Amino acid sequence: MDNRIPNHLGIIIDGNGRWAKERGLPRMQGHVEGRKALDKIVDASFERGIKVLSIFAFSTENFKRSAEEVSNLMDLLVRALKKYFKKYMDKNIKIVVSGRREGLSAEVLSVIDKVTEESKNNTGSILNLCWNYGGQFEILDMVKKISRQVADGKLGIDDIDLSVVEDNLYNKLPPMDFSIRTSGEQRTSGFMPYQAVYAEYYFVSTYFPDFDEKELDKALNEFSKRNRRFGDAK
Ligand code: FPP
Repeated sequence: MDNRIPNHLGIIIDGNGRWAKERGLPRMQGHVEGRKALDKIVDASFERGIKVLSIFAFSTENFKRSAEEVSNLMDLLVRALKKYFKKYMDKNIKIVVSGRREGLSAEVLSVIDKVTEESKNNTGSILNLCWNYGGQFEILDMVKKISRQVADGKLGIDDIDLSVVEDNLYNKLPPMDFSIRTSGEQRTSGFMPYQAVYAEYYFVSTYFPDFDEKELDKALNEFSKRNRRFGDAK
C-alpha cells in the first residue's frame, strides 16, 4: 500500500439502521454496533498517522427522528465519551465538538464541555465529533459571529479574509483531505462544506457497523492513488 495518508480524514457514519433491520434487530442495536465499530476506526486512524479525524455522527436534521431514538443516541454519546476519555487522554488526543449547543441537554453539554476543556492542551491528534452539526448552520453561525465583530467596530469589512472566516468556524481545523461515507449513499449531507472544498470522496456500500480496519485500509489505499491538483494543471 502506498503510504500517503490524509492529514484530515472525515467519516460520515451511515447505515446503522439498515444493518439492524437486515438482522431483524431494533435500530438502536445498529447504533450500538456502530459505536463499537467507531471505537476501532478511531484507534486505527490515529495509528495510521491521521492527524485530524472528523466524525459526522449526529446532524441537526437527525432531530427529526423519534424522541426515543434521539434520546438513545444522546445517551450513547455520553456513555462513549465517559468510557473512552481516559484512553484519548493517554494517547494525547485533543477532543473537539462541532455543532450547535442549542437543543442539547445540560447533561450532554456538561460532558462535552468536560472532555473538550480537559483535553484542550493535548498536542497529538484531534478527534472532531460533529454532533448536532449542519454545514449550512456552521456557515450561518460564522457569518453572524463576524457580522457582530463588524457591528461592534472590532473588524472592518475589508479585513475579512479566509483566515478570519476560518477563525470563526466552530473549530479551527486544517482542510479535509479525504471523506468517507458508508452505506452506499452518495451525498455529503452538509458534512463540513467549508473544510472539504478540496476533499477526495469515497463512497462504500458497507454499513458502518461492518466498516472495519480492512475497509479503512482499502479506502486509504484508494486515497493514495488519487491525483490531487487543487485547481492546478499538472
Ligand atoms: C447513521 O446511521 C448513524 C447515526 C445518525 C448515529 C451515529 C451515532 C453513533 C454511532 C453514536 C455514537 C457516537 C459517538 C460519536 C461516540 P442511520 O441511522 O442513518 O442508518 P440508516 O440510514 O440505515 O437508517
